[in-house]
Amino acid sequence: MSTLYPVNPAFAAKARLRHDDYTRLYAESVGDPEGFWGRIGQRLDWIKPPTKIKDVSFDPKDLHIRWYEDGELNVSANCLDRQLATRGDKVAIIFEGDDPNDSRKITYRELHAEVCKFANTLKNLGVVKGDRVAIYLPMIPEAAVAMLACARLGAIHSVVFGGFSPDSLAGRIADSAAKVVITADEGVRAGKRIPLKVNVDTALERPGTNSVETVIVVRRTGGAVAMQSPRDRYYHTLMEGQSADCPPTPVEAEHPLFVLYTSGSTGKPKGVLHSTGGYLVFASYTHELVFDLREDDIYWCTADVGWVTGHSYVVYGPLANGATTVMFEGVPNYPDVSRFWQVIDKHQVTLFYTAPTAIRALMREGEAPVKACSRASLRLLGTVGEPINPEAWTWYHRVVGDERCPIVDTWWQTETGGIMISPLPGAIATKPGSATLPFFGIKPAIVDINAEVQEGAAEGNLLITDSWPGQARTIYGDHQRFIETYFSAYPGNYFTGDGARRDEDGYYWITGRVDDVINVSGHRLGTAEVESALVAHPKVAEAAVVGCPHEIKGQGIYAYVTLIAGETGSEELRRELIAWVRKEIGPIATPDYLQWAPGLPKTRSGKIMRRILRKIGENLPDQLGDITTLADPGVVKSLVDERLIK
Ligand code: WTA
Repeated sequence: MSTLYPVNPAFAAKARLRHDDYTRLYAESVGDPEGFWGRIGQRLDWIKPPTKIKDVSFDPKDLHIRWYEDGELNVSANCLDRQLATRGDKVAIIFEGDDPNDSRKITYRELHAEVCKFANTLKNLGVVKGDRVAIYLPMIPEAAVAMLACARLGAIHSVVFGGFSPDSLAGRIADSAAKVVITADEGVRAGKRIPLKVNVDTALERPGTNSVETVIVVRRTGGAVAMQSPRDRYYHTLMEGQSADCPPTPVEAEHPLFVLYTSGSTGKPKGVLHSTGGYLVFASYTHELVFDLREDDIYWCTADVGWVTGHSYVVYGPLANGATTVMFEGVPNYPDVSRFWQVIDKHQVTLFYTAPTAIRALMREGEAPVKACSRASLRLLGTVGEPINPEAWTWYHRVVGDERCPIVDTWWQTETGGIMISPLPGAIATKPGSATLPFFGIKPAIVDINAEVQEGAAEGNLLITDSWPGQARTIYGDHQRFIETYFSAYPGNYFTGDGARRDEDGYYWITGRVDDVINVSGHRLGTAEVESALVAHPKVAEAAVVGCPHEIKGQGIYAYVTLIAGETGSEELRRELIAWVRKEIGPIATPDYLQWAPGLPKTRSGKIMRRILRKIGENLPDQLGDITTLADPGVVKSLVDERLIK
């Protein structure tokens, strides 16, 4: 039995929603989705208000997802223009630099002017509605400016995390045929410089990237960079003399707002495409209720804008709600391991949202670095990205939140656009490690191995049986893959790729991915991506990659490598291959373990039996199951004997 943490009555007394509100609104939302979401949709400023609310079919033969279809709006007008009347002088973005002496506040009025000027800049460069713009920036305000300027013109942005390699960037630019790339001279993290512009130059030498006409370079460090004329232009020179007046382009609700690449179980990362209207309704509504947002809150989500959390809960949700959002360029342990708590005190942060991996890493440093800071401003804590182990949850609650702050453990995905399962802090009692109950309009289901929907307490694969406005609409350029990935395994339902357990109180416990995706420090990686990076090395014949338990990262990367004939696995070659993967994909894909495999366990038809490799990587050699169907059962013994985690 897990401990139940009742809702804090002092918190509930002032909360937006209490328990009976949750029950009533949830019933309404699933009983009458059109009526409910029609009403909630009114939270936005529509240029043309929608009359058709929902038109959805999850049938793989007729898949379509449309919300607010005949409505027209502009996301940047919702995030900026409509705030000016009452919040013009309110701080929209607090920028906290990597260097603790570097911070800056930007009001809604200032942000509006900057976005208009940059939208005019893009317009002058020929960017029009529907064009794709790649954004490869550090966590600086210009990242939000670039996103909002694209939205102002109806251009589709594709933000690429600054930690990705030139090859990963090139693949994303090529897939979306981006016209413009927005980057910085260098990024800064933990005092170290990251050569972003150099990476862009390398990426643009790769085949398939010649759609790019212009590279815009934000001067972040002032480091010397090679500017290639006429392609490369500095942000600050382009902005000189631009007008701060740029009328927002009205777009249809279903017009794409952005593409965000994420890893799947097979092949290259896929461009998950989000809509304008439904996405913004869902991102802003979930942000308001899950974080119990109030006008005077200082809200800080530590995610990078390169991930979906940064899109929905650093930029779009908070700004559409007129909130003050913190953008943090640095890392939790620089200059020291108190940094998060120092920033909370410095800016009087009230709502704090981070990832379990960061909590576990800081937990290891003990309580003193936390207790050295006051944290008295905090009133709510959140987590996202991976399952949080009850030990980390309890530490977060007791040490960081002084047992005063409710914790919202929010389960969602790039594809869902916003939070799907989470406590509402004034309404739902929590259990450490459980994301608790579905948000309004979300209908989860659990199926067993026979695809039978289970009632009551159950464990199995997690599906969502009906649509919600924030749902992804397609995979950019590959609608068939969208249908196959999410709607074919359980026709009529959206398949999440996650496993879950539902307990006797109806609470959901996410158990992790059930496909070949691994979750490293809350970042999704396809095992196939790491494998293809490994086999691209001339000395590698074959590779298989699985997830393994990792104390801080949640999951680590465990690679089995078979070398070409004549090569032997030296320590030096191991280091070389690990460095190779880092270079091919980016540091987040660095293998934690690399085991030489004289052979890989395969079925007689040549399929690698990952189940066996997973068990060996988890140090569970007595749970390999039936290995008699293998083409050569003998390979298993040597892999078990040589395993790296014992
Ligand atoms: C996992 C991040 C347990 C899950 C928003 C999901 C979680 C994947 C949680 C999506 C949570 C995210 N508890 N697991 N609170 N939040 N996950 O697309 O496996 O980067 O499928 O979106 O992260 O990762 P993504």
